[in-house]
Parts: sequence; structure tokens; C-alpha cells
Amino acid sequence: MYQLVVFASGNGSTLQSIIDSIKTHKLEANICLVISDHSNAYALQRAKQNNIDTYLIQNKDFTKRDLELATVLSNYSIDLIVLAGYLKMIGPNLLEKYTIINTHPSLLPKYGGKGMHGMHVHEAVIRAKEKYSGATIHFVNHEYDKGNIISQTKVEVLSNDTPKSLSEKVQAAEKIQLIQVLNRFVHYEI
Ligand code: GAR
Repeated sequence: MYQLVVFASGNGSTLQSIIDSIKTHKLEANICLVISDHSNAYALQRAKQNNIDTYLIQNKDFTKRDLELATVLSNYSIDLIVLAGYLKMIGPNLLEKYTIINTHPSLLPKYGGKGMHGMHVHEAVIRAKEKYSGATIHFVNHEYDKGNIISQTKVEVLSNDTPKSLSEKVQAAEKIQLIQVLNRFVHYEI
């Protein structure tokens, strides 16, 4: 079985959509571990409710965090790591050893980089009166949101959209896109 590790800092609705897709056989994979950097992340509850191992990483030091995560991950057989709303930089030990992808709620390279996450992205898109936004799935490298792009989905920004309504549209498109991309990985098409 194709083994996924999911990193999530917050609500974990993206994690939930992966869990649901696995349960309904839309994705033939297993999530062996969920990692979060926030003890109160709802993503951790979602994992526990589904009997998925969890790990809370609280080290604030970049190098120590990287080493601690490398040690934890070495206990698992992993095909792919998915960053699903995880906001910390990934260190060299993980980048060297694993294939890591990230889902980002904009049409990168627009609205990416440090501090550009979640609602901040949608607020900036509305402020700039963009006609389109969307979601990007990309490989993770040593810079925020700069790795090679795997897939993008466009959504239209309507004149009456708010950051909240835009985030709902983007997140819906993002989840469909992520499951499609994960299926491509599972079938070794990527
Ligand atoms: C998702 O929209 C994801 O693209 C975004 O956070 C949200 C997580 O939602 N990620 C970033 O902004 C990363 N820069 P969730 O916690 O409900 O899955």
C-alpha cells in the first residue's frame, strides 16, 4: 500500500478530504502518520478519530526540528509526504530523503512566500482585484512556495467575492486537485 505522511498546522480539512477519499476507495493509499506543530490543531483530532498515528513537533529551532522529524519519520516506510496547511519550513534532512509536496491556495508564483498562507492569500487576491485565483500543488524545496509546480486549478474571482467566499471556492477546487495528484503518485505517473 502506498504510504503517506501528512503535515498539518491547523483545521485539517485537507487531511480530512484525503482520509475520506481513502475510505471511499477514491485513493488507494494509507496515511501512516500525521505531524503537526500546534498542539491544538484540529488536524490532530481528525487523525486520532481515524486511528492514525500523530506526532507533535514543538522544537522552535530549525535544525533541531529537522533532525527530530527525520528521527520520527525513520520509524515509518514512506512513499510521499504531503504538506496540507503546514506552515513551517522543511529542513535539509527531510528534503534529501523524501518526496514532499505542498498545496497552496493561489496561482503560484503569485501570492506565495513567507507569511502568504490561508486567509492572508485570499485577502491579498481580493485587494488586488484579481480576476482569477486558484490552487497550486508543487514539490517542496528549501524556499517557501518555490518548488516545481505539479498542477494548478483556476477559479474565477467574482466582484462580490469576499476572502471567505473565495477561500471556500479555492479550497473545494484544491481538494479535488490534490486527490487527482495523489492518485497520479500512487500510480507512479509522477
Ligand atoms: C489550505 O487551503 C492550504 O492550501 C493552505 O492552508 C489551507 C489549509 O486548510 N496552505 C497554505 O496556505 C500554505 N502556504 P486546512 O487546515 O483546512 O486543511
